[in-house]
Amino acid sequence: MVARSSSPTGEDQRELSCAGFDVRPLPGASFGAVVRFDRAGGSRAALAAAQANPDALPRALYACQGLLVLPEMGEISEDPAQLVRLSRLFGPEVENYRLTHADEGMIHPDVPEIFVVSNLAPANRQPPPRPDPPRTENGALPTRFPHRRGWHTDQSYRRPPPDVSLFYAVTPAPKGQGQTLYADGATAYEALPARLRQRVEGLEGIHVRPGTGRSEQAVSDGETPQPLPPHHQPQRQPVVRPHPVTGKRALYLCEAGQMDWVQGPFAGMSPGPEGDGARLLYELMTHLTQPRFTYVHEWEAGDLVIYDNRSLLHAATWFDAERYGRLMWRTTVAGNPGEAYAGEEPSWTARPLG
Ligand SMILES: [Fe+2]
Repeated sequence: MVARSSSPTGEDQRELSCAGFDVRPLPGASFGAVVRFDRAGGSRAALAAAQANPDALPRALYACQGLLVLPEMGEISEDPAQLVRLSRLFGPEVENYRLTHADEGMIHPDVPEIFVVSNLAPANRQPPPRPDPPRTENGALPTRFPHRRGWHTDQSYRRPPPDVSLFYAVTPAPKGQGQTLYADGATAYEALPARLRQRVEGLEGIHVRPGTGRSEQAVSDGETPQPLPPHHQPQRQPVVRPHPVTGKRALYLCEAGQMDWVQGPFAGMSPGPEGDGARLLYELMTHLTQPRFTYVHEWEAGDLVIYDNRSLLHAATWFDAERYGRLMWRTTVAGNPGEAYAGEEPSWTARPLG
């Protein structure tokens, strides 16, 4: 059972008590928590504790605005099925990437629910470029759009989109490189000026798979968009998304590469990089990625980060892929997207999820 303790100041809502777990506010962030397990024994014991109390981790996730960091879970590297069992605590559908036709090189050879994010073969996924300049005026890692690009929420080009992702570091990049950035769309929504709140009410974003010739850059460059099969068509998503568990409203957006800049980024506004929709997206993203709403995760081997795609955005950062091999595993959990998606068949595949 997770319960909020009454903090003497009443300020931090992330002080939790939770049988079998130690849950503390995430240092360096206004949202999120670090979860450690009371018993020694590594991730196997942690999994047993979580399964014995299956509501505990999901409740901690929702109480902490959608971000949990679980350090010292390194046994998952030897027993990757543990990651899938942990994922099942967060929803009924853990994606089987073989059934959803991911590139074979991105699928874990033994555990098809694991999506491999790595610059190493066979995944061969390269990191994003460094921001220009690489540091802010204060010497910090840039997080704010448009200095920082690449903010997105996983698979927002699907309807219904997924709920939660679990992201695990087998071999992270060296310290100071290859961080993952998170932004809290719920607090950013609450902090929107009234003028912007009115503009986003009822608005829909048009999301699309990256690499289909519909990105901001592709449209600016005059590329011809690729013809898309029915299961890869752009999808509309509410810009303000009520969370199906907490009820909190959050900004649900991506930017340059995962919005459709041919028809969008927003339905009903003038499209393309020079349109009114582009101006609004820049304004919203600049607001949403202010340092006060963001967190920079510096990875240690064995870290597991669990994030709620319904209310958080995230972005990858550069690392020196010529010198270092980075290996990360991700699972994606779906099944509770909220009322707006009730009864919908998946847009992206005719096959049932495993
Ligand atoms: Fe992602």
